Amino acid sequence: MVIGVPKEIKNNENRVALTPAGVAELRKHGHTVYVQVNAGEGSGFEDEEYIAAGAQMLPTIEDVYGIAEMIMKVKEPIAQEYDLIKENQLLFTYFHFASSEELTRAMLAKGAVCLAYETVEKTDRSLPLLVPMSEVAGRMAIQEGAKYLEKPLKGRGILLGGVPGVKPANVLILGGGIVGTQAAKMAAGLGAHVTIMDISLPRLRYLSDIMPSNVQTMMSNEYNIREMIKVCDLIVGAVLIPGAKAPHLITRDMLSLMRSGTVLVDVAVDQGGCIETCQPTTHENPTYIIDGIVHYCVANMPGAVPYTSTVALTNATLPYALQLANKGWQKACRDNMDLQLGLNVVDGKVVYKGVADAFGLPLTDVKEVLRDEVEA
Ligand SMILES: NC(=O)c1ccc[n+]([C@@H]2O[C@H](COP(=O)([O-])OP(=O)(O)OC[C@H]3O[C@@H](n4cnc5c(N)ncnc54)[C@H](O)[C@@H]3O)[C@@H](O)[C@H]2O)c1
Repeated sequence: MVIGVPKEIKNNENRVALTPAGVAELRKHGHTVYVQVNAGEGSGFEDEEYIAAGAQMLPTIEDVYGIAEMIMKVKEPIAQEYDLIKENQLLFTYFHFASSEELTRAMLAKGAVCLAYETVEKTDRSLPLLVPMSEVAGRMAIQEGAKYLEKPLKGRGILLGGVPGVKPANVLILGGGIVGTQAAKMAAGLGAHVTIMDISLPRLRYLSDIMPSNVQTMMSNEYNIREMIKVCDLIVGAVLIPGAKAPHLITRDMLSLMRSGTVLVDVAVDQGGCIETCQPTTHENPTYIIDGIVHYCVANMPGAVPYTSTVALTNATLPYALQLANKGWQKACRDNMDLQLGLNVVDGKVVYKGVADAFGLPLTDVKEVLRDEVEA
């Protein structure tokens, strides 16, 4: 298969969909890989590394879209890319269709095959192409939290791990899923005193078994949260209710219970945030202060560490990309249910319920699209 990797042109996106290692793997299976000049620059991969791995470099984004059967990207195409997409071209990237009717209609009009990273789903209901970014965000939450606890950045001026003779900081993590677990590991590793709250007792049991002794677990409820925030220095919001807005576990009035300089990192801000006073911020301007409480609410945290994020993402996407390239998308999606669930828009039809529901568009059974292709 002919695979194309364009340079991401969305504002502040420094990740790239394929590393030189990924190129080498696809080449080993006999595929041709075209990479746009400088596509890996933002993640620290030079053109020479891609060439050494067997890629052919193309100067413009038009060249890449023009030649490829499968386009591998990170972010959804933006308006200036729409016209470059060809009928039946396979696009393998994050789309988040339900948040953009314009994008959905553009892809329907183009007749492209849109396989969305975010809806690829395993039989245990986990989302393998979202997990790596949660892992990055969870670990980063503590790194950022530790930084903003410093006095010059308006924090309480406390070192997470303390020093001999001085007690460590208290860290509260709301939600013990992927983000929360990674955050807890980081904070515990730095020597902080960590509390993870979740509403799932089985999850708390599991965390209690695997976490080091400086991590304790607690049931998440309003009473416990009100008690804990009085003594915590860093609070990480990491809850998720699939398909719904995050619940406001920390409300406006609770800020008055916290000590001045407490830092709140609401990782769940992309789902509306679990802290009522959180509004999305950017890496250029990540924090703001309300009532002496520092709020960090960057909606795209992994964007600040593109090398780590690119490698983590491509570790997860490459096995699927190989299946798509080796078998063609129809057979790959028939053989592998994870991939089949990634199909959102195919040949002018919406085949993913969440997208059809979001915009009142007709839903075509994905099996029909796959059957059509068999007969064709
Ligand atoms: N800001 C970013 O850059 C960024 C990056 C990655 C992920 N995220 C977001 O982080 C959030 C968490 O993602 P995840 O992958 O860890 O999800 P997850 O599904 O693995 O974990 C969510 C956890 O929240 C728990 N939960 C639900 N309601 C709760 C409540 N009332 N109190 C306490 N816990 C509760 C669940 O039981 C679950 O264990 C999501 O909103 C995700 O979109 C943001």
